[in-house]
Amino acid sequence: MSFIEIAKKRYSARSYSDRKVEEEKIQKILEAAHVAPTAANRQPVRLLVVQSEEGLAKIGKGAKLYGAPLAIIVCTDHDKAWVRPYDGKKTTDIDASILTDHMMLEATELGLGSVWICYFDPAVIRKEFQLPDGLEPVNILAVGYPDKEAADPERHGQARVPIGEIVSYEKL
Ligand SMILES: Cc1cc2nc3c(=O)[nH]c(=O)nc-3n(C[C@H](O)[C@H](O)[C@H](O)COP(=O)(O)O)c2cc1C
Repeated sequence: MSFIEIAKKRYSARSYSDRKVEEEKIQKILEAAHVAPTAANRQPVRLLVVQSEEGLAKIGKGAKLYGAPLAIIVCTDHDKAWVRPYDGKKTTDIDASILTDHMMLEATELGLGSVWICYFDPAVIRKEFQLPDGLEPVNILAVGYPDKEAADPERHGQARVPIGEIVSYEKL
């Protein structure tokens, strides 16, 4: 599959079978995260891989996982992140999200479904996994084998605003 085919094939899967994600696929997903760029190569992201029933139940106290058998909690370390000197902006969320996107697209290539989750209670995740103070959970990526039909890769024409609404060109 070409990159654009993978990007179009990806969709948010919100129903999963019980089938576990094979270890070698998990390792490929993590490798995709590992090679992702981060601002100034600070690599301030920490990944917590959760697949035990107990761990998934802990996440379930603060987030909806849609029955996925694997969740990767993407955290950023505020002490390690790059800060833009002009305005003090920290790139924590950006770095975390690039890793998350790499993992999501790798999961797609491997025939897995995924859904990116931001609708979670960070206090619950922090408490359940005893995250240290400097570490912020930014995203949770739920991964597994979908048990419903995949979304049509050509759906984006209807599901997205017209490309002209998000792109403009400089006037020459
Ligand atoms: C930053 C971000 C946060 C999201 N949070 C959630 C979430 O908490 N729960 C959920 O079901 N989907 C979540 N999504 C998935 C979006 O709703 C979904 O990507 C969007 O509706 C487009 O649909 P598609 O992914 O099927 O193309 C999130 C996506 C992104 C990029």
